[in-house]
Amino acid sequence: MLSPQIRSTFLDFFTARGHRLVPSGSLLPPDPSLLVSNAGMNQFKPWFLGDVEPDFPRATSVQKCVRTVDIDNIGHTRRHSTFFEMLGNFSFGDYFRTEAIGYAYELLTGYFDLSPDRLWITVYEDDDESARVWRSVGVPPERIQRLGAADNFWSMGVPGPCGPCSDVAYDRGPAYGRDGGPSVDSERFVELWSLVFMRSLRGETEPGGGFPVLGDLPRTGIDTGLGLDRLATVLQGVDSAVQTDLLRPTPATVEELAGRDYSPADRDDPCRVSFEVLTDHARAIAFLLADGIRPGKEGTEYVLRRLIRRAIRHGRRLGIEGPVLPPVTASVVANLGPAWPELTRAASLIEDLTTREEESFDRTLRRGTRLLDRAIRRRLEGGHRDLPAETVLTLYDSHGFPPDLTIEAAHEAGLTVDDPHVRSLLSPHHHP
Ligand code: SER
Repeated sequence: MLSPQIRSTFLDFFTARGHRLVPSGSLLPPDPSLLVSNAGMNQFKPWFLGDVEPDFPRATSVQKCVRTVDIDNIGHTRRHSTFFEMLGNFSFGDYFRTEAIGYAYELLTGYFDLSPDRLWITVYEDDDESARVWRSVGVPPERIQRLGAADNFWSMGVPGPCGPCSDVAYDRGPAYGRDGGPSVDSERFVELWSLVFMRSLRGETEPGGGFPVLGDLPRTGIDTGLGLDRLATVLQGVDSAVQTDLLRPTPATVEELAGRDYSPADRDDPCRVSFEVLTDHARAIAFLLADGIRPGKEGTEYVLRRLIRRAIRHGRRLGIEGPVLPPVTASVVANLGPAWPELTRAASLIEDLTTREEESFDRTLRRGTRLLDRAIRRRLEGGHRDLPAETVLTLYDSHGFPPDLTIEAAHEAGLTVDDPHVRSLLSPHHHP
C-alpha cells in the first residue's frame, strides 16, 4: 500500500468514527517551550491541559514532526528519521483506553491487514487495565510486555500533559534481530503506534533527566501517534523508509549526482550511511524551509542549519562536487509536493536558500576539513586516543567549523572527545 492510501485509510477510519479532520500544524511549534513540532498532540496541548475548552471532542491528523534526538542513529538503524509524518487520533475528555485500543487493533488488522501474529504490545509496568483490554481484543498474554517509565510513560520532553502509554510493535522477523519481543530488540520488533493515556501534568526536567508529576489533568484524554515511515516500510515489504515511496526518488537522485550506486543491503558500507543521512536530512530541510524556518545560529534556526551542514558534508563524502542540496531537496519537493502543497509553493525559495547556505558552508568546510584531518592524523600518529576539547574550540573560533562535525569526524576516526568539556568551554553565544 502506497503512502497516499495509508494516509487516507487512517483518516477515513477515524473520521467515520466521529473524529474531526485537523490539518497538520506548522513545524514551527505553537508552544514556545519546543524548538520544533515533535508530535501530533502539540497543537492540542491547551485542550489536554484544560486551559481552553476543546472545539470538538475527537480529532485526527497527519502531523509533520521533526526529532533530532536520534540524529546520530540515522542510517545506522532502520527505524529512525529526523522528519516524519505522524498519523494520530485524539480524544479530549471523550473516549479513553478501551476504545483507543479497540480502534488501533481494528485498524491495523482489519484495514492495513497486518497479521495479528506479528503484533506485540508493551504496557506501562503497573497498567493492568491496558493489558486486560489488549487480551480482550485477542492479543495473547505472552505477546504483552511491561516496561518502565523510560519506554512507556510519555511526555513532550517539556512541562505539559503526560501519561502512561501502550505501544504496538511489529515483528519484522529473525533477519532483523533477536527473538523475545520489543523489550529485547526494538529493531526487529519495531514500534509502529504509541497510544498515550493522558491523565497527568509534568513539571520541569530535573538534574539526572527525570521529571516530577505535578498532579492530575482536569480530564483524561487520548493522544496517539502512528509513524507513517514505519508503517509504509512494513506494508511495502522493504528494509527501511528510504526505500518506501515516501523517499525512494531521493537516493536515485543522489546516485546520479554521485555517480555511484546506493546499496541498501550493505550495512557496513559508510557510503550507504551517507546516502541515507542525506536523503533523510533533505526531507527535513525542505519541510522546515517550507514552514518559514530559516537557518541561523540559535534555537529552531540552528536545528535547520545543523541538518543542512550535515547533509552537505555527507554529500561531499559521496564525492558530489557540484551542488548537493538544491537538486536533492528538489527531488523531495517533486515526490511529496502532491501530498504537501506547501513544498511546491516553496520550491524556488528552497532552491535559493539551500544554494546560498551551501556556498557559504562549502568555504568553511574546505578550510576546516583540511585542518581537522591534519589534527586527527597527528593525534593518531602520536598514539593518542582522543581529540582535545581545545582543538574542537580552535577549529570553531578561528575557522567557524561546527563542533558537532568535528566531534563526529573524531569519532569516525576512532578518537574520543570530552564532550562535556567542549560544551563547558563554549561561551553562551556559541552554539555547538
Ligand atoms: N505523543 C505520542 C508520541 O509522540 C503519541 O502520539 O509518541
